[in-house]
Amino acid sequence: MHIIVCKDYEEMSRKAAALVAEGIQARPDGLISFPGGDTPLGMVREFVDMVNRGEVDISRTHYVSLDEWVGLSDTDEGSCGLFNRENLLSRLEKPFADVHIINGAAVNMDAERQGLDDYIEKYGPLDVSVLGIGMNGHLGFNENGVDFSLNAHIIPLSETTRKVMSKYFGDKFHPTQGISQGIRQIMAARRVILIANGAHKAEILRKAVRGPVTNEVPASVLQNHPNCYVVADEAAAALL
Ligand code: GLP
Repeated sequence: MHIIVCKDYEEMSRKAAALVAEGIQARPDGLISFPGGDTPLGMVREFVDMVNRGEVDISRTHYVSLDEWVGLSDTDEGSCGLFNRENLLSRLEKPFADVHIINGAAVNMDAERQGLDDYIEKYGPLDVSVLGIGMNGHLGFNENGVDFSLNAHIIPLSETTRKVMSKYFGDKFHPTQGISQGIRQIMAARRVILIANGAHKAEILRKAVRGPVTNEVPASVLQNHPNCYVVADEAAAALL
């Protein structure tokens, strides 16, 4: 793992965006993926600015979302889809070649899951997979105990995730499942960038980076990835 400690959130965001841009420059017609959540907001903003300034060309690049709450579509507040639309897609002055956003409110969720697999199969493997880390070490919705050999799947949310999720949509929704790219697809990415900020992520980041590789801390699997960058601010990296 390449561990990059940044002095603050802004530096973490700039560094992560620059690593994404490098990945795109290496394979301009590749496939990239960003997470939802609070952590990537700055990184996405930096990335969009780079694209809009003409510093990175995404005209041949494909984009796929990482995960979604089952029951939420990309118009629902707090959904990863809406995060993608508002922060990334609608702000880009020059669009991606193609985009696949998971619909967590699809009538046929198994077809939705298959569609995610098919998209990654067609345009993948991922060139750049940016990931956040959940308070329980989840990646996307690869929750504790997840089978590392899975591709896209639908999974019950852990108790920790259910506690944390109200920060995204208050009391409005009570999802019980998530749909996510699987660890197999994440591990097949040419470059993985795990971003984390804030003291509240320090303990789980320590477990992921320094602890044993175990599906009880799904992010620990990244220790086995040949090209994984951990980009963290000083607060999140404090226990590394
Ligand atoms: C959410 C998402 C993940 C995200 C993680 C961390 O539940 N499923 O994709 O990376 O939890 O979120 P945050 O960055 O808000 O801490």
